[in-house]
Amino acid sequence: MTEVVTASNAAPEVVPERTTDVAAPAAVDEVVVLDFGGQYSQLIARRVRESGVYSELLPHHVGAEEVARRRPKGLILSGGPASVYADGAPKLDTALLELGIPVLGICYGMQLLAVSLGGRVEGAEVGEFGRSDLAVRETGRLLAGTPPEQTCWMSHRDTVFAPPPGSTALASSTASPVAAFEDVGRDLYGIQFHPEVVHTPYGQHVLTTFLEDICGCERTWSAASIIDEQIERIRRQVGDGHVICGLSGGVDSSVAALLVHRAVGDQLTCVFVDHGLMRKNEGDQVIGAFRDRFKIPLVAVDAEDRFLRRLAGVTDPEAKRKAIGAEFIRVFEEEAAKLAGARYLVQGTLYSDVIESGGGTGAATIKSHHNVGGLPDDLEFELVEPLRTLFKDEVRKVGEELGMPERLVWRQPFPGPGLAIRIVGGEATKERLDVLRDADAILQDEIRKAGLYRELWQSFCVLPDIRTVGVQGDERTYGHVVVIRAVTSDDAMTADWARLPYDLLEQIASRMIAELREVNRVVLDITSKPPGTIEWE
Ligand code: XMP
Repeated sequence: MTEVVTASNAAPEVVPERTTDVAAPAAVDEVVVLDFGGQYSQLIARRVRESGVYSELLPHHVGAEEVARRRPKGLILSGGPASVYADGAPKLDTALLELGIPVLGICYGMQLLAVSLGGRVEGAEVGEFGRSDLAVRETGRLLAGTPPEQTCWMSHRDTVFAPPPGSTALASSTASPVAAFEDVGRDLYGIQFHPEVVHTPYGQHVLTTFLEDICGCERTWSAASIIDEQIERIRRQVGDGHVICGLSGGVDSSVAALLVHRAVGDQLTCVFVDHGLMRKNEGDQVIGAFRDRFKIPLVAVDAEDRFLRRLAGVTDPEAKRKAIGAEFIRVFEEEAAKLAGARYLVQGTLYSDVIESGGGTGAATIKSHHNVGGLPDDLEFELVEPLRTLFKDEVRKVGEELGMPERLVWRQPFPGPGLAIRIVGGEATKERLDVLRDADAILQDEIRKAGLYRELWQSFCVLPDIRTVGVQGDERTYGHVVVIRAVTSDDAMTADWARLPYDLLEQIASRMIAELREVNRVVLDITSKPPGTIEWE
């Protein structure tokens, strides 16, 4: 997928290899999450990690042998979009139930467990989507410490009508006669609701009970705990070789570069290509942090003119992305050639990239990776990918631990092709880029002052290539329209438009019109994703 990338959209990225293999940390307890295609599968793995237990998300078809190889202390079966009875619905390899480790099925995972063990699953007359009331008849082991009545989050049509023989039904909800069951003797547990979403207030409690009390995990893993291990790993991989890293200003490439520098010091050279499509002062901030503060050898290339020449006359969004991508590779290769002898290339590949390029998880693909602005995979370097085991929020924790400035650690994702793709329907000229950059700086400034920057997944401006009439002073004006786009999201796959306070919007709009001569109108985009995308182009 193009970045979703991951929302790691920011960094120039090489297409990750098609593998789900990551080097798991040594000496910590692990719980495997098998992905049956649910929208929340990644979130389950993240929540397990938040509890202090290392977790990996594997495609449902990997089989019992592969799971056993990792010696997990427990197994979680995720939700999924299918009905257990549908043709081609992912099945449960029952050998997984014989591994001698506790198994927790969530939603579809619970239904799979139930049918595999002789319980009864059927389509309910009404589905259950969203908040639901859970009545706990017996807490058993799994729901221990939670109240008899609680709220939970459901998303299902089929439901368990009878638990498997030998197990105990623990709870029900309006549309789910059996919303939780357990078979303590066989160490099998099922819940219909989603413990991983914030709308299930006791969700994290239930997950932690499963991990700690049932699986016996020690909760010793943390994102920061990977630092020493990664440093060792990088040293072993690189030896005394030279390493090169393309810095984009985004958090992934920045944290990756810092880790590698910690490991091999000045054997690392960073290359920062300023294509002139960055946000205001971004280039200076990157140079200030890396060259001045961290003392990392940094080649900063001011390539604005080259990129603007290349973009002249280009209005089609795909053509813009291609032009920028091609030019980026050319500049990077020129710089790399000057650093003769560099054999290794640092990439800020994240765990979500690894999962998403692993394929075959059964999840509906909602978006694809934007590798535009990235490097091709045939560059003759060996890749160093120190963030391959981490989710985005974990990368931020590592960045904080390494002493990265708050502004860099918490930077919102930014597309590789930069502001060029936010000039819509027209050419990305220097004049338009400057208007957009200034408008964006006002927006960021006000959002930060309002304390909302971290709450938003992204907030930015779009500049459509149209002019509208206005009246300012006693004069008629014919000026630019600035669009404000602000969204909340967990992973860029879906997003909701942010309900920014009216007073804040007014302040932003008045500043833009007062401070930017070319702008006479400000509008707000209130489209969620789907149906809209986050960016306009
Ligand atoms: P959309 O617009 O598809 O964006 O909802 C999802 C996420 O991806 C980022 N994005 C890009 N990143 N190159 C990138 O590196 C691109 O061409 C690109 N287009 C979108 C976007 O900012 C959002 O976080």
